[in-house]
Amino acid sequence: MSRRPLGEITRGTTNPNRLRRVDNWIAWRCASLLRDAADPLVVDLGYGASAVTSVELRGRLARVRPDVRVTGVEIDPERVAAARPYADPPALDFVRGGFELAGLRPVLVRAMNVLRQYEEAAAGEAWHTVLAALAAGGVLVEGTCDELGRLGCWVLLDASGPLSLTLAARLSTLDTPATLAERLPKALIHHNVPGEPVHELIQALDAGWRDAAPLAAFGPRQRWIAAVGRLREQGVPVLDNTRRWRLGEVTVAYPGRPGR
Ligand SMILES: C[S@@+](CC[C@H](N)C(=O)[O-])C[C@H]1O[C@@H](n2cnc3c(N)ncnc32)[C@H](O)[C@@H]1O
Repeated sequence: MSRRPLGEITRGTTNPNRLRRVDNWIAWRCASLLRDAADPLVVDLGYGASAVTSVELRGRLARVRPDVRVTGVEIDPERVAAARPYADPPALDFVRGGFELAGLRPVLVRAMNVLRQYEEAAAGEAWHTVLAALAAGGVLVEGTCDELGRLGCWVLLDASGPLSLTLAARLSTLDTPATLAERLPKALIHHNVPGEPVHELIQALDAGWRDAAPLAAFGPRQRWIAAVGRLREQGVPVLDNTRRWRLGEVTVAYPGRPGR
């Protein structure tokens, strides 16, 4: 096997707290996976120009499993050197690597804002490479968000493929759910066209938001809850409940794949 890390160096843009929404979702959705893991190793793949989101991920997941270990894996050696002063092994470490995960066998990989800069076919291959490197029963959380983390979309995958899609927004600044389409992961963004399941999903959520406009008087949270509730009434396989909707989230079965 080649020892060259798999992938390309891309833009390193990141920000403190940018990934708060996805981290909190991981801490909720993957809690039992982390608690039950023989080796609670998590990889933050492509952490970017600063170590900050890896440091934050370690802190958030340590509330679920205090001995969780997070390793930031980054393909740019200069970014690895810049992150090393923040290492605190075994809790937090930084290594150079690519989609092969530098030979690590984590139970969970978070890859945010990494694949959007690749071609769709390369992003699909990256999913396979990362999934093959996971520990048995492990998962990948892959997605995209805006620079401040107010709009985000991510996919949960296990060895069988993509399981779910989560759409998340800061409701106080949300204009309309259709804006989330700009943040769809690479695998879905080019499929946001009529006739495709992800397009129907975004359109249905947007229509529900419009219909719930009178509830705006009670705040955007009530409006979002009504819009998501309507999705469920229409038969969309919504996988979560009001407790998550209140946070401005909704998780559905991966578009085009039946709910599991
Ligand atoms: C836009 S930054 C994302 C930073 C952080 N994850 C965030 O969401 O704020 C993307 C980073 O992914 C890195 N990257 C791209 N392909 C990679 C690969 N195959 N393996 C590891 N890192 C990669 C880039 O070098 C870059 O630093």
